[in-house]
Amino acid sequence: MKDTLLIIGACGQIGTELTQKLREIYGNNQVIASDIREGNEEMMQAGPFEILDATDSAAILEIVQKYKVNQVYLMAAMLSATAEKFPHKAWQLNMTSLLGVLELAKEKHIQQVYWPSSIASFGPTSPKVNTPQQTIMEPTTVYGISKLAGEHWCNYYHNRYGVDVRSIRYPGIISWKTKPGGGTTDYAVDIYFKAVENQSYECFLSENTRLPMMYMEDAVNATIQIMQAAPDAIKTRTSYNLAAISFTPKEIAKEIEKHIPNFNITYKPDFRQPIADSWPQVIDDEAARKDWNWNHKFDLELMTEEMLKNLS
Ligand code: SER
Repeated sequence: MKDTLLIIGACGQIGTELTQKLREIYGNNQVIASDIREGNEEMMQAGPFEILDATDSAAILEIVQKYKVNQVYLMAAMLSATAEKFPHKAWQLNMTSLLGVLELAKEKHIQQVYWPSSIASFGPTSPKVNTPQQTIMEPTTVYGISKLAGEHWCNYYHNRYGVDVRSIRYPGIISWKTKPGGGTTDYAVDIYFKAVENQSYECFLSENTRLPMMYMEDAVNATIQIMQAAPDAIKTRTSYNLAAISFTPKEIAKEIEKHIPNFNITYKPDFRQPIADSWPQVIDDEAARKDWNWNHKFDLELMTEEMLKNLS
């Protein structure tokens, strides 16, 4: 049987590029894109698209049956900064969507599920440097609480019902095709857009705030790699730590200056500073590298070249 994939949240930052890549691999018609609103021209033209509310599991089931979907990538979520403004709405979106999809897998309507977790599932009491796969996890943001709870729901459905669900704790993801919305790591995307536009940027985090980050191409490859791995290679059914680069606003600004010498950065930390301060700085992702051969390609230098080239 040919695999048929449903991407929920296909118009978001990761969903957009993940959908494109999956369509290259599996064929345009095998990848059903869906989101609460229509996507860009390319997304709408390239293959099937459905308007879908991620929390409406009956609607998801209808689409699953219509196209004979066997894998779901659930990418819809409310990110950390927005979630702090709407805690209950964030919980409702992030949890209801996951439980709905896990139920579909339990009932054997689908065979495989991908669901992203985040570095936000760690908290201020977790080790900040080389944060281990297994350690103290006491998240203080509602987004982090929803991700940590979600990880354990995944593990529970795997252990209790044999559901094949796979997950990665993404760091901040940097991309030029689609901007992120409502995250704490968004500055590392905005900074490139502003550098190209007007050579200056006011950063909402302080200059020495170190956070784990990753270029989109690496994140998309990791996602596909974990989904294509043999089931018994996946030893962790909560979620895998995943790492590539860690840097501060000051360090990324310095890297941009190599290309745009009069680039200017100023700092005005806001409500997102304490969120960033509660997260790890450098993640240990040995388990992902060992279990399913994860390897990143982009460092800060290469990523900066790519971002500036594509944005100018
Ligand atoms: N990039 C996300 C955020 O900042 C973290 O998963 O909310």
